[in-house]
Amino acid sequence: MSDHLTVVDHPLVQHKLTLMRDKGTSTAGFRQLLREITQLLAYEITREMPLTTRQIETPMEEMDAPILAGKKMALVSILRAGNGMLDGVLELVPSARVGFVGLYRDEETLKPVQYYFKAPEGLKDRLVIAVDPMLATGNSSAAAIDLLKEAGAVDIRFLCLLAAPEGVARMKEAHPDVPIVTASLDRELNSKGYIMPGLGDAGDRMFGTK
Ligand code: URA
Repeated sequence: MSDHLTVVDHPLVQHKLTLMRDKGTSTAGFRQLLREITQLLAYEITREMPLTTRQIETPMEEMDAPILAGKKMALVSILRAGNGMLDGVLELVPSARVGFVGLYRDEETLKPVQYYFKAPEGLKDRLVIAVDPMLATGNSSAAAIDLLKEAGAVDIRFLCLLAAPEGVARMKEAHPDVPIVTASLDRELNSKGYIMPGLGDAGDRMFGTK
């Protein structure tokens, strides 16, 4: 994957995203849509996974058939909202190992504070996909990627639902080697660090905490 930012403009993605943005969508609906849209985004982010071939026998004849080359995947959820994207990817790649990075955003400084880190072994040999629905200031995302790199990850991608230009710029500056896949590049951040027009607090909307 070479471009730093890929916006997936597939009609199904855009349709589901509109339903998610709508404040009238229920918590259950929001969660279900996030799972569905994540699968479609995961399809895009895994597009260049290396293939090899395996000799198999169809009922008709032998053939050399394409199969994933075996690069293993680690899926890393940036807590807590990242958890809403885990199932969608795991349905596509059930053998992926899963890690968690716990960072909360200090509401005054908007800076990330780490409270949890657990990653699968052998990160350096895995395709690492970090998931967080909202790329806002980019501070926590960049800090999460720092931690993954410190733990050995080299082939990292970032999967989010919405991105703000400020967050994309921050990630490009801190981690130009980490491609981002998103469903939308929104207009801007507001003074409280929320994405506009956005969809509100993704964690609250998926877990019903507000
Ligand atoms: N996190 C959210 O959940 N929403 C935003 O708009 C920004 C950060």
